[in-house]
Amino acid sequence: MSDDHFNKNKGSILKLFTPGPVKVPDRVLNAMALANDTHRSKPYSEMHKLAVEGLQKLLFTKNDCLIFTSSATGIMEACVRNLIKKDEKALFLSIGAFGDRWYEIGVSNGKESIKADIEWGKALTPEIVKEELSKHDYAIVCIQANETSTGVYNPLNEIIPIIKDSGALICVDATSSMAGIKLEVDKLNIDVCLASVQKCFALPPGLALCSISSKALEKTKEVKDRGLYLDFLSIQKKNIVYQTPNTPPIPQIRGLVVQLDHILNQEGIENRFERHKTLGKRTREWANEIGFELFPEKGYESDTVSTMKNSINIDFEKMISTLLTKGYRIVNGYGSLKNKTFRIGHMGEITINELDNMLEVLTDIISELK
Ligand SMILES: Cc1ncc(COP(=O)(O)O)c(C=O)c1O
Repeated sequence: MSDDHFNKNKGSILKLFTPGPVKVPDRVLNAMALANDTHRSKPYSEMHKLAVEGLQKLLFTKNDCLIFTSSATGIMEACVRNLIKKDEKALFLSIGAFGDRWYEIGVSNGKESIKADIEWGKALTPEIVKEELSKHDYAIVCIQANETSTGVYNPLNEIIPIIKDSGALICVDATSSMAGIKLEVDKLNIDVCLASVQKCFALPPGLALCSISSKALEKTKEVKDRGLYLDFLSIQKKNIVYQTPNTPPIPQIRGLVVQLDHILNQEGIENRFERHKTLGKRTREWANEIGFELFPEKGYESDTVSTMKNSINIDFEKMISTLLTKGYRIVNGYGSLKNKTFRIGHMGEITINELDNMLEVLTDIISELK
């Protein structure tokens, strides 16, 4: 195996421009290497408390913030298991691969799941949402903030109030945007807002987080057969005393606390959102200069991942593998979009300079391949 991919002393030295997992900063890796007390100790609870309070600030919420030993998919499954009763329906407003996956989670848990398939590349609009909501009474509605497969960011401020007006609970998958794009949970009255940490948080994978409203917790009490490991109520009961029901990945939580401190107190939350905006804008400008059309419809492009069409008829696999030999990883299109699109992730700790350097190398490769 090449040294770039696996170096016994340094680990991978590749520069990741991926939509997760992303490069983890040394401050987090160093913090994670420190020794810990047990998860039933006072020091652990003090650390857990810092994580919860930091998440509340990051998400602009007073709601409880829960920590799961899983990736984001675990909380997507938790929403389905905890919030839908046997005689109720769930609506999945899917604009891409991760919307489709949430629907499949609903179906595989035996819940009455209905999916609205929006053309990939398009965002949800108030009209679409109203139309879909008029078809049935729904107990919950599940949407993506940022659809990582298409690079579309949904207009949450426009559509969530409509969903709330219907009386349904709203669950938002913010996996590839939380800690990168501003999302104000209480202002929008979001019931569950979830993410995993290997994307904009720039932590190693294995931990997921969500805010949860009191309405969602009340609803959970009415739902039978919620299972044990992903039960919102038992996790929340322990969260109140800053613990988890089962053994959590303690080094990860230490890393999360360090990273939240960096985001909130060192970089500054608004600066972080601005940096991601600039990264998104810069990538789109570059795509335009090269002649790559963006896959998302105009006005809904994500600031954390850009999905480009093959408008200059280039061999994407060759382009991506040549870039890899120069020490940079970008990724092909997701699922059925493979080779039709490619994606550049610009999330986590990436700086504008680092992005510019990578784009310069990529530009040279493209000129050679043309
Ligand atoms: C929007 C979105 N939702 C859900 C997931 C699944 O996340 P995880 O792999 O952390 O379970 C991903 C992963 O890329 C994602 O981008």
